[in-house]
Amino acid sequence: MKIQSVAWKKGKMVLLDQTKLPAKVVYVSCSDVRQAREAIRVLKVRGAPAIGVAAAFGLVLGVNNKKIRNYAQLKKKTDILFKYLASARPTAVNLVWALKRVKNVVLKNKHENIAAIKKLMLDEAKLISNEEIASCRKMADLAQGFIKDKDTILTYCNTGQLATVGLGTALSAVYRAKQLGKRIKVYACETRPLLQGARLTCWELKKNKVDVTLICDNMAGYLMQQGKIDKVFIGADRIAANGDSANKIGSYSLAVLARQHRVPFYVVAPHSTVDKRLPSGSRIPIEQRSGKEVSELFFKKPIALAQVKIYNPAFDVVPARLITAIVTDRTVLRFPYAQKIKRVF
Ligand code: MRU
Repeated sequence: MKIQSVAWKKGKMVLLDQTKLPAKVVYVSCSDVRQAREAIRVLKVRGAPAIGVAAAFGLVLGVNNKKIRNYAQLKKKTDILFKYLASARPTAVNLVWALKRVKNVVLKNKHENIAAIKKLMLDEAKLISNEEIASCRKMADLAQGFIKDKDTILTYCNTGQLATVGLGTALSAVYRAKQLGKRIKVYACETRPLLQGARLTCWELKKNKVDVTLICDNMAGYLMQQGKIDKVFIGADRIAANGDSANKIGSYSLAVLARQHRVPFYVVAPHSTVDKRLPSGSRIPIEQRSGKEVSELFFKKPIALAQVKIYNPAFDVVPARLITAIVTDRTVLRFPYAQKIKRVF
């Protein structure tokens, strides 16, 4: 079943509102850049490749809604919108990567008229979207080398059709395995505090008839100890030049558990997630979000005293040495990663 997280329709960006899932399937339409940025900030659209595509369309909305008389005005407006959208979420590099691509169209087409440049910007955003779909297919195929019939896979957060504009990153591997007739079981960690695993991964795997079982995040070690997990598959929001990979908070704990129990740990991500400018994961900016997401968002009453201090980092970094392989849309990488990342990206 095809799930469309982000689309461009009749001059607007249409998003499947992921904050409403799984209770309601609601599509929201963004007609200006402010709505686009807010949708990214509050996670109506989320997942590294999907927010890249949404930001690219957001930039197009921003210039389309403005009376722009000459190239200097367009260039200035693009710079302002770039910063505005880039600040919506700091960790997933796909967002800045996609914005740079659309901005480069402006820089390279100085001699075109304004209407023509705006059209080229939209073409570029659509191209990014189409390329991300193709990347998902490629990752799905390359990951098959690591998936056998009857495997039980543990996954984290949501890395599927909702997190991308195609089949997914880590979950694309599961979908392709199923298409190939492999009998796969998935354990989905609920993924506190925003519950992307419980709300989104279980929803989309169910829709696609994948055998999925939901567990609380703190049950993963027990399952590994019992020998119930054959491999872990996760995505990434930013991969540094040495292979250190940022992903949803809790990914590091899973990687440590997997190493302790000798369970292979795979990261699946497209080239838009690789940030060669950062030598290691310690330089990846980690998004800090409101404490209310921890204590209030999904509860009828706050679960902690109002005065309690809450720390809510949204991502952590899995050190490269704990990653068995990184499956990208170009090739599969094995530790040590630095030389290969330099060569391939
Ligand atoms: O905060 P989110 O829901 O945007 O976080 C998403 C993840 O951490 C995903 O695992 C990640 O983007 C990689 S898979 C597309």
